Amino acid sequence: MEGFYPNNVRADGPVRVGERWFLKDAQATEDWARRWAVHLVPGLVITLQGALGAGKTAFVRGVLRGLGVTGTVRSPTYAWLETYELSRLYCYHFDFYRVTDEGTVEEMGFRECFRQDSLCFVEWPERVSNWLPRADVAWHLAPQDEGRCLILHAATPRGLATVQPMDGC
Ligand SMILES: Nc1ncnc2c1ncn2[C@@H]1O[C@H](COP(=O)(O)OP(=O)(O)O)[C@@H](O)[C@H]1O
Ligand SMILES: [Mg+2]
Repeated sequence: MEGFYPNNVRADGPVRVGERWFLKDAQATEDWARRWAVHLVPGLVITLQGALGAGKTAFVRGVLRGLGVTGTVRSPTYAWLETYELSRLYCYHFDFYRVTDEGTVEEMGFRECFRQDSLCFVEWPERVSNWLPRADVAWHLAPQDEGRCLILHAATPRGLATVQPMDGC
């Protein structure tokens, strides 16, 4: 499958790969992500693959809105990381597009962000596939007609539990 990266599509429970949702415009992306957000629990690692402009940041913005972030949600492309501290949990939004050496990511101390009291969103996981902890939900965004197709790549059991309520949404 396109974009396969061994470390974080492995799953030790039931996996549904290839399930997809059509998102007709940017608003649909944000709305879907907002609705999904209510099912998220601390400790999850969520990855987003897709080309530049596929809607990865738009999707994370929707999730963060659903979690109660009201301020600006900017793309972490240049900073690599944007942090959001909510009363419930810490959210870390990574964009590893510019990573050329996975060792740098380890040196930056980003490992500490992956905890049981945090939620991590990772754009361009394929740039750090050896370094990254396993994803609980691995999404792929692809262009489709004028909109986007959101494709479930992989999920751990607890990741799958967040996706199941979205059947038919
Ligand atoms: N479902 C959609 N249909 C059409 N355009 C979308 C959709 N979702 C997001 N977009 C638009 O596509 C662009 C995605 O940008 P961004 O989220 O920064 O992409 P990425 O982070 O993948 O590089 C934005 O202009 C956004 O408004
Ligand atoms: Mg982005």
